Amino acid sequence: MSHMYLSKLFYILSVTSAVYAACIPDTTSTDDLQSLFQKGGVNYILSLCPNQTYNLTQILNYTAAGQEISTEGYPTDVSRATLLVGGFNISTAVQAQNNGLDGCKLRNVQVNGNRGDDPIYQGGGGLIEFGGDTNGQLVEYVHSFDPRGWSCLHIAEGPFTCTNVTIQNNDIGPCGSEFFQMWSDGISLSCQWSLVQNNVITDATDGGIVVFGAPFSTIRNNTIRVKTKTLLGGINMVDVLPWRPPGNYSGVHVTDNSIHGGFATGYGNATLGTNNASSVIKIGIAVGPRTWFDDQFGNNVSTGGVIENNVLQGAFSFGIAVSSAKSFTLQNNTFINNISFVGSYGVNCTTGASTPHPPTALLFDPSNTENITIIPGSSTTSGDNLDFVNGKAEGLTCFVHPPTDEFAWPYGDGGVNAGATETTGGGSTGSTSGKCTGPSSTGTQSGSTSIGPNIVSTCLVVMIGMGMMWFGMI
Ligand SMILES: *[C@@H]1O[C@H](CO)[C@@H](O)[C@H](O)[C@H]1NC(C)=O
Ligand SMILES: *[C@@H]1O[C@H](CO)[C@@H](O)[C@H](O)[C@H]1NC(C)=O
Ligand SMILES: *[C@@H]1O[C@H](CO)[C@@H](O)[C@H](O)[C@H]1NC(C)=O
Ligand SMILES: *[C@@H]1O[C@H](CO)[C@@H](O)[C@H](O)[C@H]1NC(C)=O
Ligand SMILES: *[C@@H]1O[C@H](CO)[C@@H](O)[C@H](O)[C@H]1NC(C)=O
Ligand SMILES: *[C@@H]1O[C@H](CO)[C@@H](O)[C@H](O)[C@H]1NC(C)=O
Ligand SMILES: *[C@@H]1O[C@H](CO)[C@@H](O)[C@H](O)[C@H]1NC(C)=O
Ligand SMILES: *[C@@H]1O[C@H](CO)[C@@H](O)[C@H](O)[C@H]1NC(C)=O
Ligand SMILES: *[C@@H]1O[C@H](CO)[C@@H](O)[C@H](O)[C@H]1NC(C)=O
Ligand SMILES: *[C@@H]1O[C@H](CO)[C@@H](O)[C@H](O)[C@H]1NC(C)=O
Ligand SMILES: *[C@@H]1O[C@H](CO)[C@@H](O)[C@H](O)[C@H]1NC(C)=O
Ligand SMILES: *[C@@H]1O[C@H](CO)[C@@H](O)[C@H](O)[C@H]1NC(C)=O
Repeated sequence: MSHMYLSKLFYILSVTSAVYAACIPDTTSTDDLQSLFQKGGVNYILSLCPNQTYNLTQILNYTAAGQEISTEGYPTDVSRATLLVGGFNISTAVQAQNNGLDGCKLRNVQVNGNRGDDPIYQGGGGLIEFGGDTNGQLVEYVHSFDPRGWSCLHIAEGPFTCTNVTIQNNDIGPCGSEFFQMWSDGISLSCQWSLVQNNVITDATDGGIVVFGAPFSTIRNNTIRVKTKTLLGGINMVDVLPWRPPGNYSGVHVTDNSIHGGFATGYGNATLGTNNASSVIKIGIAVGPRTWFDDQFGNNVSTGGVIENNVLQGAFSFGIAVSSAKSFTLQNNTFINNISFVGSYGVNCTTGASTPHPPTALLFDPSNTENITIIPGSSTTSGDNLDFVNGKAEGLTCFVHPPTDEFAWPYGDGGVNAGATETTGGGSTGSTSGKCTGPSSTGTQSGSTSIGPNIVSTCLVVMIGMGMMWFGMI
């Protein structure tokens, strides 16, 4: 009996200690954290302590399905435990990409890439490396920032078997620096059938959310904004690699996202102010490799996505640009509050095969696109021409943002004169004027492709007279 009692007691104690295990303190070495995963096996939860910082000297690797790293109590604020990249020549904090790592989770932690003022580390991966040959992983309530490598959060395709990652409720950024090719993405998604929702990405520098094909994925209700940096692209569908066939965006839905270009941080004149960080988004939504890479990918195109109900405001070079794309639908994407389209030709705008069209709201290249459906929404912004215009949309990241003291940034988003933009609802009784696109409204294709375009470009209704930028300017 006593033996049974003892073993039962031992059982209770071990269960108790498993369930109520204290969080693992930050004095634990990376090797010992790794051992906990190894010993813990399937579904092991590596529970970190609130307010503690874990200096990782190597990449911490998930080792079995269902494993989780999280902060005890699942806080969502600054008390989330911090995983810090402290090792030499390492750009990744945690990695869960090996075969069998289905359902692994990273939740309620902060991940600090610790790059500081160093140049980007080219040799390594993203700060968080998930995806790979797996199904059903989750990253949520994670603050990922200052990566040493090219991305704050990379979900890899693996042998094109990655499926069903959920990336939600994360706060991402800042990521990267603005210097040439020192950039980093916010979220880099290359896993099919995935869901990227409710994330806020602030001050990424390459793409806010870069969709690498990732067929059948949904990217919805994310906020992408810049405060102190220039971001090349808000949401990118420009990478024809690595997915197969090249440019496979089949079933990709990019919906209900909010993209905030820069806003004035100082007063200029009645409509536009200055920005002490020269912060703009060069392309709000970029579709097709040529918008980004010029002619580097030859005749490859991005194919098959739907982009709808997205809302843009602030300073951009281009709101949406479409070039070298096929069978995309763009509908009801709108501008709200105040906007401007700024930037001047940089030296690299004229080195490629063609000089692109200057900054404008919506740019479309009929010469290399096919079967694109465009149905504009009703923007509540006035003052700019918000129609799609036809023109060369190639290598658009070559534009250079205005200097800090130029009156180029619209007011809003909590900055200078922001009160002027808080009354969005007031626009409903303004007079409207229908503006129809000219040449592109019924779309004659000047290229030589056999399937004609089907450009449904309805009249764009622009609210006049109630333009939000006029409020509170007196
Ligand atoms: C984390 O730190 C904050 C500020 O020092 C403190 O108020 C809070 O109680 C701490 N949280 C935990 C769970 O220790
Ligand atoms: C995690 O895996 C990488 C290889 O992908 C390896 O370099 C690193 O040492 C591993 N981390 C630990 C703590 O063993
Ligand atoms: C992290 O650990 C490494 C190796 O021990 C050390 O060189 C580095 O200074 C530590 N970083 C921080 C921020 O404590
Ligand atoms: C670290 O990486 C740099 C290149 O980014 C290389 O020059 C250096 O030799 C590497 N150091 C070590 C110890 O691997
Ligand atoms: C997707 O992953 C979730 C776990 O995050 C799982 O519950 C669900 O069954 C998976 N769906 C498919 C189709 O595999
Ligand atoms: C959209 O995302 C925000 C976080 O930015 C969240 O607060 C809100 O609940 C989300 N909306 C929906 C409908 O999920
Ligand atoms: C894109 O890839 C998916 C998944 O492999 C596949 O089902 C689909 O047919 C591909 N699309 C095209 C146009 O080939
Ligand atoms: C830039 O302007 C913002 C908004 O007014 C302000 O919060 C910030 O401190 C300024 N930054 C610098 C470097 O002046
Ligand atoms: C158009 O998009 C806006 C902003 O996302 C949304 O509120 C509205 O419901 C959409 N309209 C339609 C007809 O879907
Ligand atoms: C044109 O694109 C639509 C999606 O927008 C797709 O359903 C249709 O099959 C495409 N047609 C051709 C001929 O590729
Ligand atoms: C133009 O491209 C070169 C590399 O080809 C780069 O060094 C330079 O910084 C770029 N200039 C601008 C203004 O982006
Ligand atoms: C404000 O300044 C910009 C840039 O110089 C100019 O284009 C715009 O017309 C000015 N607006 C007003 C109302 O003076």
